[in-house]
Amino acid sequence: MRKKLIAANWKMYKNPAQTKEFFRDFIPLVAGHDRDEIVVCPPYIDLHSALELINGTQISVGAQDVYWKDEGAFTGEIAPAMLTAIGCTHVIIGHSERRQYFGETDDTVNLKLKAALEHGLTPIACVGEVLEEREAGLTEDVLRRQCMRAFSSISARKASKLVVAYEPVWAIGTGKTATPGMAADAHVLIRGEAAKAFGEAFAEALRILYGGSVKPENATALMSEEEIDGALVGGASLDPKSFAAIVKY
Ligand code: 13P
Repeated sequence: MRKKLIAANWKMYKNPAQTKEFFRDFIPLVAGHDRDEIVVCPPYIDLHSALELINGTQISVGAQDVYWKDEGAFTGEIAPAMLTAIGCTHVIIGHSERRQYFGETDDTVNLKLKAALEHGLTPIACVGEVLEEREAGLTEDVLRRQCMRAFSSISARKASKLVVAYEPVWAIGTGKTATPGMAADAHVLIRGEAAKAFGEAFAEALRILYGGSVKPENATALMSEEEIDGALVGGASLDPKSFAAIVKY
């Protein structure tokens, strides 16, 4: 049995004061809930507040991106060891918005994954097709390519903390959700790619999350699907009540 991981991706929302408000309300709502792993990924400037607030709870905190170098003249970037130094344990890598707006490629995703794993972070590597690719029947090709290149030259031993998120881009922030069946098909394919890269046993234990308009109303149906090992939640994670309802689907 794979323990499900429910992660919040706040994207570019909330400042430290709003982060405080969120956790003040959210922590009591999920007190004692240990069936699933809970991770909140706020903007960088909120990480410190978030980490202070979750101290003594079962909740973990992650970043939304990371650079692959250890240090240097890279204005605006954050190194893996900077995240671990403040107690950050998780990091989202290759989110479709980074691919779409900030020049993230399959190769930079691979570099970031390697760096995150090297530093003991749990990377949540995102893959997913855009609408035109789905409509052109290219979903499988796209997912295969994204996985193959993301996993390239990483050993199973190094990859042990890896988590993958399937986020069909057409379902992000649109209110359109992949049906549990559609998501399950994609997850089977991703698991197959993980088996090729890291072996069957690794793939069997790999957690593959679904992301794209996950809401309290559809969380139960999605999470009941055996292939779906958790959720990466955008919009609905900003409100403590709705994120808690998803966690407790
Ligand atoms: P929404 O839940 O707002 O569709 O966002 C999904 C997402 O991109 C999570 O990373």
